Order: sequence, then C-alpha cells, then structure tokens
Amino acid sequence: MVTLTPKQKKVLDFVKEYSAKKEFAPSHEEIKRHFRLRSVATVHEHLETLERKGYVIREKNQPRSVEVSPFILQTSNVVRAATFIDVAPPRIVKKLPLNQIICGDSIEIMRSWPSSSIDIVVTSPPYDKIRDYKGFALNLSAAGQEIYRVLKNGGIAAMVIQDQTKEFGKSLTSFRTILDWCDRIGFKLFETVIYRKYGAEGAWWNKRFRVDHEYIPVFLKGGRPQYFNKEHLKIPSKHGGKTMTGGGTRLTNGVRIATRAITINPMKCRGTIWEYMTAGDGSRLKHQHPATFPNQLPYDFIQCFCPKEGIVLDPFVGSGTTTVAAKNLDRSYIGIDIAPEYCNIARKRMEIECNEKQQKMF
Ligand SMILES: C[S@@+](CC[C@H](N)C(=O)[O-])C[C@H]1O[C@@H](n2cnc3c(N)ncnc32)[C@H](O)[C@@H]1O
Repeated sequence: MVTLTPKQKKVLDFVKEYSAKKEFAPSHEEIKRHFRLRSVATVHEHLETLERKGYVIREKNQPRSVEVSPFILQTSNVVRAATFIDVAPPRIVKKLPLNQIICGDSIEIMRSWPSSSIDIVVTSPPYDKIRDYKGFALNLSAAGQEIYRVLKNGGIAAMVIQDQTKEFGKSLTSFRTILDWCDRIGFKLFETVIYRKYGAEGAWWNKRFRVDHEYIPVFLKGGRPQYFNKEHLKIPSKHGGKTMTGGGTRLTNGVRIATRAITINPMKCRGTIWEYMTAGDGSRLKHQHPATFPNQLPYDFIQCFCPKEGIVLDPFVGSGTTTVAAKNLDRSYIGIDIAPEYCNIARKRMEIECNEKQQKMF
C-alpha cells in the first residue's frame, strides 16, 4: 500500500469517521472548515491525492460523494505492505520499458507511463491474502485504475481471479472487483470466461465442494475491442460433417427461418468455459512460484485480442507465464512483479523458454 503524509492520513480519518457517524460523506466546505484550510481547492487537492493512491473513491461532479475505498476497509490487517516514499506524481516517461521484467510495485510503475499505450493485460493478481507472496499486499481498486489508464481504447484486461472461502462463505472479491472496475473505473465487462481446471488437487472436502474453476473477467476499455480473432480458439464439433435437420432459426429481427437440413461444420466456436490442465503444466523453474496459471492461457487471450505489433502487459507477472507467451507470439511485452525472487524466475524463463537475454538486475 502506498503511504500517506500525516495530513493526508488525517483527512482520510476525518472522511471515515464523519461518514460512519452521519451515514453520508462530508462536503468539501466542511472538510475545509474542519482543517482550517485556505480554500476548497486545497481540499480538492487532498482528495485527488487520496483517490490517486486508491484510498478513496469519488463520483465526478457529485457533492458529498467521497467514500473510503472498500478495499482499504477490508485490508486493514495487511502483513507487510509495500511502502513507498510519498513523492509527487512521477514524471511520465516518453518510452515504455518494452521487453523487460521490472521489479517493483506495479501501480507505482504504471503511473509513470503514458496513457493509452498498452494493447492487452493478461494477469492474475493476488487476492484475499490467500497466499503470502513474500508478504506484499495489493489494492486491486488502485491497480484497476492504472490498468484502465494505460490501456489503449479498445484494449482488453483479462484477469484470473477467485474468491476465498472462509467459514462457509465466499469473500466475493471477484464480484466486488468486477463491479468496482466497471461502475467506478469505467471498464465494460466484455465477458466472464470460466477457467475449468483439470488436474487440480483432489483434496477430499467433507463439508463443501472441491473448487475446480476460476473466473476470468474480460474487461474492455472503450466501445469495442480493437482486435478480435477467435480462429485459434475453435474446437471440433461433436457432429462435424453430418447433415442434420436443425430447429428453425430465429433472426435478431424476429423472422423465423423454417427447419431445414444443415451440414454441421467440423469446427465450432469455443464457448465461455475454457479448459486447461494444471497438472504437469510447465517446468520445475515455473513451479518455484506458488500460484502460476497454465502456460496456454495467455496464448489464447493474446492471439484473440492483441494485434500483431501489440504490447502485452502483466503487472503481476510472477513466474513470467504471460511474458513467455507474448514473446513466443512475437508481441512486445512488459512484466512487473514486486518480489525480486519471482522476477528472477521470470527472467530465467525468458532466457530458457524464449532465448531472450534479460539485463541482470540482481
Ligand atoms: C498470482 S501471482 C501471478 C502468477 C503468474 N500468473 C504466473 O503464472 O506465474 C501474483 C503475483 O503478484 C505479485 N505482486 C503482489 N503485489 C504486487 C504489486 N503491488 N506489484 C507487482 N506485483 C505484485 C506477487 O509477488 C505474485 O508473484
């Protein structure tokens, strides 16, 4: 979590306490009076900084709309938060650091990049503190905001996520994140793919189901995907080549086409359940990371949504599964991870699996 100055912390606490007591947010004027600030513009500056750092959310041009981010309220018992010196907004770099695995906090790193510069994000963020990734915690709301900003219009963010089960209840983090990224940040939900896991550990759960799926919400920035090609995703039709009498088709304008004999195509479009083997997927090196996704998964998304000269980003790159796929598909890539140990695994994989020399950083 990004640190706050004492003044920003006081403003945040005031918003939190005021809202809890009155059940509505304080106005800018009330915040100004409480802190004896010079002008409402100063209040605005403080709230803007808190929003940028992911501590509060606001609705544009709505009075009394400031709210403490639900993610901050949830993550008060963070183990070892990534701390950063409170600095002015970073200088925006002119050139993206292409074809590199960068070690650092992805929110901070993305903040220095130009807007609308990335074609696709394929990632799986940490959530619900299910695993201890060397103790780092993440504000998913702030991450979504930066991902949205750096994506091009028509760009896609595919995010593998699940919910933790605790005392027979789901955390709902995946659903909360989808709502937050769409309602507050501005993404459209293009689709939710279900990633069906084969070979997941066969633990014998006495009192609940064995979870063998994860969600992959596919977020879209803008009106429509800039690129879409699902040829490689086709699967064989069960009755391919046979001629069958189909049911009457109903067109979108309501007209019905009468039942007729149809020859079934040998291949058909894949639906929204995508199946991957998890057992035996990848090398020992890859599995030095505790929570990787299948090697094939990023290939499927990149080929579908990323143009040939496009740029692929994984802001939580872990062992480098996304960057390996991007490089092997001849796309440019950027991978970021906060843990130096995992950056090293990703960098080694780039060398071994893609023959891609990486600068030595550690
Ligand atoms: C689920 S893992 C990603 C695994 C990856 N998909 C793979 O196949 O190897 C999530 C990663 O996010 C990293 N992480 C956590 N907080 C981060 C942050 N603020 N910035 C960058 N990386 C972070 C963790 O170190 C972890 O490696």
